[in-house]
Amino acid sequence: MQGALLDVVDHPIRLLPRIDRVIPLDIPERSIFLRLLRETDAVALTDAYVRNREHLARWEPARTDDFFTVEAAQARIQTSIEQYSTRAAVPWLLIERCTGDEHEPERERIVGTMTVNRITWGPFLSGSLGYWVDRELTGRGVATAAVGHVCEAARASGLHRIDASTLLDNVGSQTVLRRSGFEQFGLAPRYLSIAGRWQDHLLFQRILHDED
Ligand SMILES: CC(C)(COP(=O)(O)OP(=O)(O)OC[C@H]1O[C@@H](n2cnc3c(N)ncnc32)[C@H](O)[C@@H]1OP(=O)(O)O)[C@@H](O)C(=O)NCCC(=O)NCCS
Repeated sequence: MQGALLDVVDHPIRLLPRIDRVIPLDIPERSIFLRLLRETDAVALTDAYVRNREHLARWEPARTDDFFTVEAAQARIQTSIEQYSTRAAVPWLLIERCTGDEHEPERERIVGTMTVNRITWGPFLSGSLGYWVDRELTGRGVATAAVGHVCEAARASGLHRIDASTLLDNVGSQTVLRRSGFEQFGLAPRYLSIAGRWQDHLLFQRILHDED
């Protein structure tokens, strides 16, 4: 009991980013920002996953056709919002603001997700980062910029550490993590089922505070 009290004193639990928080990314010639997932995002999220189905297939768990429906997106959003409300996850979206047509001069579309999952409080103060970026926007520094902001928001919430894992041949994602201050700390055999196979992963972590 005394240990539990000390943990709270030593590591005060701060609030997660507010649901209306918006973070612009500095990407040339594009208007892209991070904001948190909302209940109303199901149609746009489905559209984003349908557009990127092939782009993501090699790097994500195997998906059946059901995954790419609005109903499935609504259910996943509900789960994510519940996890956010219990401070177990922070589900960020990458949004691009584009020029539309005469009916809708400006429109927004989802161009990626960036989620801090499995947040553990107490002495661990850690979360696991997962992300993807729309195939049309890769190679412009979007993931690197977003990971930097998401780590800063995690640090401001009181987290001490963020981890992430990549397939051995996901050099793009490893570049993003290394550039964002992550260090490889292990290799986990048959760690996650990706594209229908249990596959080895490189494990990365970033310590968010310099001090003890
Ligand atoms: C990995 C991913 C998120 C990177 O997003 P991004 O916005 O393109 O990332 P950035 O532009 O910030 O940086 C990527 C860097 O890796 C490089 N890169 C990408 N693929 C590479 C490859 N196969 N080999 C070597 N370098 C590669 C890019 O050229 C870039 O470096 P540069 O700025 O020097 O050109 C995106 O490609 C993606 O969504 N991939 C599919 C899903 C996925 O892999 N998610 C991560 C799972 S761990």
